[in-house]
Amino acid sequence: MDTEREAIEASADPGAAPPDRDAARRSASHSGRSDPYLWQSLAWVALLLGTLVLIGVSAVVARPRTPKSEVVVVHSEAVDAAGSVEALLASDAFKHGQKLFLGTCTACHGPHGESKPGLGKNLTKSTFVAGLSDEELLAFIKRGRNPGEPLNTTGVQMPPKGGNPALNDDKLRDIIVFIRGLQATGGKVPDA
Ligand code: HEC
Repeated sequence: MDTEREAIEASADPGAAPPDRDAARRSASHSGRSDPYLWQSLAWVALLLGTLVLIGVSAVVARPRTPKSEVVVVHSEAVDAAGSVEALLASDAFKHGQKLFLGTCTACHGPHGESKPGLGKNLTKSTFVAGLSDEELLAFIKRGRNPGEPLNTTGVQMPPKGGNPALNDDKLRDIIVFIRGLQATGGKVPDA
C-alpha cells in the first residue's frame, strides 16, 4: 500500500522529503506500476469474453432444432368428429375426460397439461402428442414410457395408464379428447 509505505518512510526519516518531491515520486511510481497490470487485466478480460462468445456460439450451433411450439393437431378423429374446437370443448366426452384427467394425470401433468416441475411433460405443446393419431396416443398411454427409453427426456417414468389400471379404453379415449382440447387451446380450457 502506498500510504503504508509512505507512513513507514516518513517515520524512518521524518521531514526529509519535501511535499513536492514526494508527490513526484508517487506519480512516477504510479505510472510505472499500473500500466503492466492494466494491460494484463485487459488481456484476461479479453480472454474471458472470447471464451464466453465461443461457448455462446457453440451452444447456438449445437442446439437441437425442435419444431416451434405452434401446435398442429393432426389425425385426430376426436376433433374431426366434433367439427370445431368449441364443439369439442362442449362435448360430454371432453368433460368426462377432463374429470378423469383431473383424477389421475393432473398429479404430474397439472390441471391444464402444463406439467409439474420435475414430473410429467407439457401436453399442450407436445409435438409428440400432436403427431400421433388417437389410436396411437391410446396405445402410448396404456404403455407409458420408462426412463431408459430413447424418447424419455426427463429421466422420470410415465407409468402405464398414468398408474391407474381402472382406466379402460373408453375412459382413455375421453381423456384423449380432453388432451386434444388442451392442444387446440394451448391449455386454456374451461375449468371443470
Ligand atoms: C407419476 C407421474 C405421471 C402421471 C400420473 C402421468 N404421467 Fe404422463 N408422463 C409422465 C412423465 C414423467 C412423462 C415424460 C417422460 C419422458 O421424459 O419422456 C410423461 C409423458 C406423457 C406423455 C407424452 C408427452 C410427450 O411429449 O412425450 C403423454 C401423452 C402423457 N404423459 C399422458 C398422460 C396421461 C393421459 C396421464 C393420465 C392417464 C398421465 N400421463 C399420467 C408422468 C406421469
